Amino acid sequence: MNEEQRLEAGLVKPATVKTASAPEKDYSKYFETVYTPPSLKDAKKRGKEEISYHDDFQIEERFLDMGAGRKFYIRTYGCQMNEHDTEVMAGIFTGLGYEATDTVNDADVILLNTCAIRENAENKVFGELGHLKPLKLEKPDLLIGVCGCMSQEESVVNRILKTYDQVDMIFGTHNIHRLPNILHEAYMSKEMVIEVWSKEGDIIENLPKVRHGNIKAWVNIMYGCDKFCTYCIVPYTRGKERSRRPQDIIQEVRQLAAHGYKEIMLLGQNVNAYGKDFDDIDYRLGDLMDDLRKIDIPRIRFTTSHPRDFDDHLIEVLAKGGNLLDHIHLPVQSGSSDILKIMARKYSREQFLELVSKIKAAIPNVTLTTDIIVGFPNETDEQFEETLSLYKEVGFEMAYTYIYSPREGTPAAKMVDNIPMEVKKERLQRLNKLVNEMSAEAMKPYQGKTVKVLVEGESKRNPDVLAGYTEKNKLVNFKAPRSVIGEIVNIKIIEAKTWSLDGEFIGVVEEEKVMSK
Ligand code: SAH
Ligand code: SF4
Ligand code: F3S
Repeated sequence: MNEEQRLEAGLVKPATVKTASAPEKDYSKYFETVYTPPSLKDAKKRGKEEISYHDDFQIEERFLDMGAGRKFYIRTYGCQMNEHDTEVMAGIFTGLGYEATDTVNDADVILLNTCAIRENAENKVFGELGHLKPLKLEKPDLLIGVCGCMSQEESVVNRILKTYDQVDMIFGTHNIHRLPNILHEAYMSKEMVIEVWSKEGDIIENLPKVRHGNIKAWVNIMYGCDKFCTYCIVPYTRGKERSRRPQDIIQEVRQLAAHGYKEIMLLGQNVNAYGKDFDDIDYRLGDLMDDLRKIDIPRIRFTTSHPRDFDDHLIEVLAKGGNLLDHIHLPVQSGSSDILKIMARKYSREQFLELVSKIKAAIPNVTLTTDIIVGFPNETDEQFEETLSLYKEVGFEMAYTYIYSPREGTPAAKMVDNIPMEVKKERLQRLNKLVNEMSAEAMKPYQGKTVKVLVEGESKRNPDVLAGYTEKNKLVNFKAPRSVIGEIVNIKIIEAKTWSLDGEFIGVVEEEKVMSK
């Protein structure tokens, strides 16, 4: 569909090209090379400017030979959104003529695509930068870059400037499309190239991508987050909520289906806010799911849901089933209304339980999974117990569990981090024990049942065994011919374990069956 047709369909506003996303201060005259450091203060602002959509990304002719004879390596530390950004950067590198390598020693450019969500995620990156120093000394022409969410933090950029002179470039999450220029600057200059815009960029639709595999694909539906949970750095590192236009998403999913992909994971930090920023159409996540449902692709998932914006229409659409899977990841963070309040989650324990009841009433077989933080400032033993009891009451089947980690610049970082580490660890252990028990419990009923599994490849532990996931995202291991990789197959479950199922291959699910579900 071209721009004119999209305009006609009322799905797109006329594109206005805007360069306002560049920072107001221009430091470049003071430095030999690009120097645009981040500012968390600016990143916190939420302006009223409209988002502009572009599909005019192009690699300039002068850069086309940049990668000839050179190899790139990207290490990803963050969430699926970060992984997807890596696919885009791999696409840009490929467009510049670079070849991919999975060995650091072979690389001419190394990028660390970082995550800022917790301190240990950041420590891993600093550790890796230390490991890379000897390589840089050995190969002075090697370029080392830091990108992703950590680059958006002033403290990180200052620390790198001070201590890690092996780094050649730092660029932010809103500067990915500028990679060709950043690389060019880094080759030309002896100084560290720093380009981090603290005001979010526009949406650029036509960035190239080299996807990881050809079975499952990530599709961004929105960028940024405006929720500002008090502990979280994401609204600062990813900017304000910006939704992609429906038609662009639908077109991307259609193309992926046509290329034989079997599963789509729709991505956003808070997908339930999808469409809130449209002022010309009334179109939310429920509407999008209802449109995607009609596309001939077996499986569609989405992540991550914020309970706050999970509306009735979305529940109604998800209940239609088909390729919309009955597994919902719904982070709760805590089971205590008082803690939820100081986390600024904007729902209470009771409201969360009410939402869960509504979802269960509409989708009786639904599988729910969640994220939980323990040891938030002031969390009492009783409040932690409320988290355990909520977990049981909902019947979650899996959780990602974390010890609270203060993030500089967030409101919670100003609260006294008054729970001793031993207490935090003990709470995490108790929670994890419950999470394991409930996972094992949820696995038991599969014994003897036949499930549909999308086969992804060899099991990580045993190359003679294949592995894949059920519609409810349970890992299944089984023996079958390698020709079924990429297919949806029926597997009879022989043994249910805590975190996976072992089964016997029965046969490939015929396409008709998948589509007529
Ligand atoms: N947008 C998603 C979460 C993205 S971050 C949502 O709101 O559901 C993934 C998870 O990391 C969060 O759900 C939370 O459990 C955890 N997390 C975020 N900030 C954290 C912090 N400062 N300390 C510990 N865990 C944190
Ligand atoms: Fe962070 Fe909250 Fe936004 Fe999730 S919804 S990304 S936890 S601020
Ligand atoms: Fe980490 Fe950024 Fe994702 S902080 S969790 S990589 S959005």
